[in-house]
Amino acid sequence: MRALVIHESLTGNTRTAARTMVAELQQEGWEASECSSRQVDLAALQQSDVVIVGTWVDGLVLFGQRPGGAGKLAKLPLLGGKPTYVFVTYAINPGRTLEKLTAEIEDRRGDVRGGMVIRRGQLTEGAVEFARRVIDASAELAADA
Ligand SMILES: Cc1cc2nc3c(=O)[nH]c(=O)nc-3n(C[C@H](O)[C@H](O)[C@H](O)COP(=O)(O)O)c2cc1C
Repeated sequence: MRALVIHESLTGNTRTAARTMVAELQQEGWEASECSSRQVDLAALQQSDVVIVGTWVDGLVLFGQRPGGAGKLAKLPLLGGKPTYVFVTYAINPGRTLEKLTAEIEDRRGDVRGGMVIRRGQLTEGAVEFARRVIDASAELAADA
């Protein structure tokens, strides 16, 4: 399987999570790579079977949370109905950011199959668990096909 992890990251946490996911997917034999939402790797996107999009939580900590860099997300290339998984990294409370990110990515024609919030204090554990979920969900899809 081929996967592209697209990340929108201000201070590096979401990028770190993306890189951990890539390593976990590669361990499973996937061809995986990551790129910034500011410079999407179009060749990798075109070749990918699965797309992952992650961003950070922007807001007033307990109120008004939304995907960070929403302007960049709205300009993502169209995802062509590919199976897509979304994640957000946050500090205290993600609010409804995952739902908002899902809606943004569906607008970009991603077929969003699942998502996860990852607390920045548990970045590695969260990223590994997320990658495992994507691997398991993809295996189920392949078995159903
Ligand atoms: C301007 C700003 C607003 C933030 N607002 C929230 C928030 O409302 N809730 C929350 O849980 N974390 C909030 N955070 C924390 C970030 O979402 C968290 O540190 C995230 O992991 C940053 O990802 P990044 O390093 O990829 O940019 C905020 C961070 C910044 C810089």
